[in-house]
Amino acid sequence: MAPREQWTSKLGFILAAAGSAIGLGAIWKFPYMAGTNGGSIFVLLFIISTIAIGLPILLAEFIIGRKGQADAITIFQKLGKSKWWPAIAWLGFAFGFIVLSFYSVVGGWILSYLVRALTGKLAIEDHGSLFASITSNSVEVLVAQFVFMLITVWIVQGGIKGGIERASKWMMPLLFIFFILLAVRSLTLEGAMEGVRFLFIPDWSLLNGSTFLLALGQAFFSLSVGVTAMMTYASYLPKEERLGQSAISVSLLNIVISILAGLVIFPAVFALGGSPAEGPGLIFVVLPAIFEQMPFGSFFMILFFILMLFATLTSAIALLEIVISTGIRTRYDRRRRASWVFGSLIFIIGLPSALSFGVLADFHIFGNTVFDFADIITSRIGMPIGALFISLFAGFVLTNEQTMKELDVAPWLHHTWKFLVRFLVPLAIIIIFAAWIFETLLNG
Ligand code: PFF
Repeated sequence: MAPREQWTSKLGFILAAAGSAIGLGAIWKFPYMAGTNGGSIFVLLFIISTIAIGLPILLAEFIIGRKGQADAITIFQKLGKSKWWPAIAWLGFAFGFIVLSFYSVVGGWILSYLVRALTGKLAIEDHGSLFASITSNSVEVLVAQFVFMLITVWIVQGGIKGGIERASKWMMPLLFIFFILLAVRSLTLEGAMEGVRFLFIPDWSLLNGSTFLLALGQAFFSLSVGVTAMMTYASYLPKEERLGQSAISVSLLNIVISILAGLVIFPAVFALGGSPAEGPGLIFVVLPAIFEQMPFGSFFMILFFILMLFATLTSAIALLEIVISTGIRTRYDRRRRASWVFGSLIFIIGLPSALSFGVLADFHIFGNTVFDFADIITSRIGMPIGALFISLFAGFVLTNEQTMKELDVAPWLHHTWKFLVRFLVPLAIIIIFAAWIFETLLNG
């Protein structure tokens, strides 16, 4: 039997984990959520949620994964004292599958935009109708989603060392550098300060429960916690790596890239007269229009879509990796075949999501298109439930001795983390959940 792989270096692990976290969540969802939910207040609540709730769960996933050194199912069987714990792994498998089914649709849009940017076809007047026409063109969305899945499968089937680590190693630093460049460009436009104010000066009157809820959901989604993705990545770590440092680096990097995305987008939106509350189309509709009005705009636009593609791919890879590692378990020699089989299945399951903006626009499940429904059941239901149980598992099933050994920090830090995963984090998740159900019932 082929041996289980390991990351070649700690940097490789941090980059891969950060790559899993930083994706559409930070670059696409974060700016448009901030834009439609009060700007700075949302940003503040997102940062608090990431540090106080997301980070402890991320650490819990790292600890469980590294301790377990196996696929998520085996880990819960081995470490759990009840036969029900592996259900968390199956939840992760199912929700990873569903997330990737709609994630790959947006990945496809990015490919569509990239091809147009490269061939100079984005130099048009009306970007709103371009977005609508791309996303409603059945053939184009399906071909683009197919190609996106093809690239994802191609990287994952090469294995974590050959594929994921090598890809993340150069994609992540590049992303970071180009984002800083883009932010500088955006910030030096006339009237840019209005966008900075929108991002950083809180208007406290906009503080409410629903904004907190959305910010928390954003923190989960963008940190990739709750679906065993981070657990799986940590299971490829050798015993001697320090986990606390890695979790903090990944969380901070994720916050920094989210804020940078905001600093790329909002100053430009305000300087060039766009609307911050554009919604999901913010990047696709407003940015190309803005780039066009900038010197070297088409060059920056190509860079931007390449970076978005990289960021989206490193997250898609993590999502497929959950499915593959849970699917093959210890049969490592089946990785290649499993990647193609599961990749094809995900593409097929994703078809209705891809068509949700065109021929299936009027097909609704509980009042939502298939695309929105897939997003809602994963980020609002699947991930919080997964995160809740992972937190309880780390808090109550793993012994203090076990977690202390894995975490390897000063006792007071270990106790603080333990308190968080035992009480604060589960309580916060339950409150968010209850608030969401209450709000849904209230609004009929
Ligand atoms: N964190 C990714 C993003 O923000 O785009 C999405 C994601 C990737 C969620 C991997 C879950 C996951 F396991």
